[in-house]
Amino acid sequence: MSNSPVSPAKKVTTAVFRSKKARGELLSMLTAYDYLTAKAVDLAGIDSILVGDSLGMVILGYESTLPVTMEDMLHHCQAVSRGASRALLIGDMPFMSYQVDVREAVWNAGRFLQEAGMDAVKLEGGKERLDAVQAIIGAGIPVLGHLGLTPQSINQLGGFKTQGQSADAAMQILEDSLLLEKAGCFGIVLESVPDRVAGYISSRLEIPTIGIGAGAECDGQVLVTHDLLGLYDNFTPKFVKQYAALHTKINQALQTYKSEVEQGVFPAEEHTYSITDEEWEQFLNRAGES
Ligand code: KIV
Repeated sequence: MSNSPVSPAKKVTTAVFRSKKARGELLSMLTAYDYLTAKAVDLAGIDSILVGDSLGMVILGYESTLPVTMEDMLHHCQAVSRGASRALLIGDMPFMSYQVDVREAVWNAGRFLQEAGMDAVKLEGGKERLDAVQAIIGAGIPVLGHLGLTPQSINQLGGFKTQGQSADAAMQILEDSLLLEKAGCFGIVLESVPDRVAGYISSRLEIPTIGIGAGAECDGQVLVTHDLLGLYDNFTPKFVKQYAALHTKINQALQTYKSEVEQGVFPAEEHTYSITDEEWEQFLNRAGES
């Protein structure tokens, strides 16, 4: 594997999602909530950036995604869209932005494209959200579905628990997946679902499944970038692989900075601006010091 950045050329579209699945090529997706992370993810050649409502927990410090608002989402989506030019950009519709009323759902979905530079939206739920999904797609806005563990329903699900572990529950996810595909979704995130269930569903769909905690048989994978980089240390789900331990590195750097400031080691000469002797003398004269 190369360590140099990939410099990708062609914009990823929702059509690429379908064609990659048809060719048996796996899709990569990561979250980003800010300009710099979006730039890094885009430069790495990741297919898609999800501005997830997980930002509520990772960036805003909430205990769940429920308090996240449309304004929070649009603010972060705008920053991400300034940093990425190639990846397919997906804005996550927050709790209560699409559940109450279909017209409101379409209106809110449109804001992600019109005001925040997103290419598509994601929303959670199956049969119970079908009207909203159809109406949003009907308005020309691509929709990524999200089934299995749907964090906006944690109060109904009884916490962040694996879904689809009974035959009934697995059937429900399969049926919802087929409904979302028929409604025109360009892909479906499957979160915290047993690998065999996710693999079977993937084999029944023409659109790609993007797994998170759903095993290796999905058509692509998504992770929260802060988890992957080892930045979010509140808790690490079983399905996360940490590719770096940045939390520890950051802590070390900050402690070193503190002790160098306290010992007068930082700033050194190379971090300091100078004034010529001539200007300095003039300054002292004018300041009445000579
Ligand atoms: O909000 C989010 O980041 C997500 C992913 C975990 C799929 O929904």
